[in-house]
Amino acid sequence: PLDPPDDPFEVARTAAADIARLTGVERHDIAVTLGSGWGRAAELIGETVATVPATEVTGFSRPALEGHVGTLRSLRTPGGRAVLVIGARTHYYEGHGVRRVVHSVRTAAATGATTMVLTNGAGGIRDHWRPGQPVLISDHINLTADSPLEGATFVDLTDLYSRRLRDLARGVDPSLDEGVYCQFRGPHYETPAEVRMAKAIGGDIVGMSTALEAIAAREAGMEVLGFSLITNLAAGISPVPLSHAEVIEAGREAEPVISDLLARVIGEL
Ligand code: 6GU
Repeated sequence: PLDPPDDPFEVARTAAADIARLTGVERHDIAVTLGSGWGRAAELIGETVATVPATEVTGFSRPALEGHVGTLRSLRTPGGRAVLVIGARTHYYEGHGVRRVVHSVRTAAATGATTMVLTNGAGGIRDHWRPGQPVLISDHINLTADSPLEGATFVDLTDLYSRRLRDLARGVDPSLDEGVYCQFRGPHYETPAEVRMAKAIGGDIVGMSTALEAIAAREAGMEVLGFSLITNLAAGISPVPLSHAEVIEAGREAEPVISDLLARVIGEL
């Protein structure tokens, strides 16, 4: 039988062809997804070759959220590498299904990118962490009960968040701490009991993205680097109630510092 017309890899190849046509850049080497707080990094990574509204690229939807930029950008680093900057993340909690969540990652792979850098704003569980602090993701716990893989696709996730790339990042900033990211479905924040559970099972960071994307990136054969900006302490760790405004504000304040960090790390890739 023929492949179904909605084969997600076919859709990703079409999207990659759209990007090549709209940017004039045939191949990208590195892809970066910018989460809350990381938006300004694009300016520092390299020269902008082209900016494309995500809505003009097959399979991308309008961003649901303030603080999330709906563009795809092609940048050229000083070292000459082509970087696809994805400022249009689809979150699992939007309810469009996991294929839509990982479409940008599959598209990045289809453009030729072999390194996927995933960034996000997230809640911190370790009590010595402070809002505004960036941490490396060392591993994840996927609490969505879903997977981007379909059928009998058995993919090994050992060293999913590449040790080589984490070491490289610590070469840029030796003070970088690292932790295990727990992806919850959201969009509500966790209860204090859920945060205690996350801690008990080995989590350090709670968020609503990244893990499903990292799995898809590994399936596509990419090397993954993950960063969380701790925008707030998680419920029960924080002395005050959580708000989206607080998350956006922490991102805004930390933006210059973490953007510089990310740009320097990407310069080393
Ligand atoms: Cl505390 N939880 C989740 N799931 N996502 C977040 C967060 C917390 N803070 C920022 N993003």
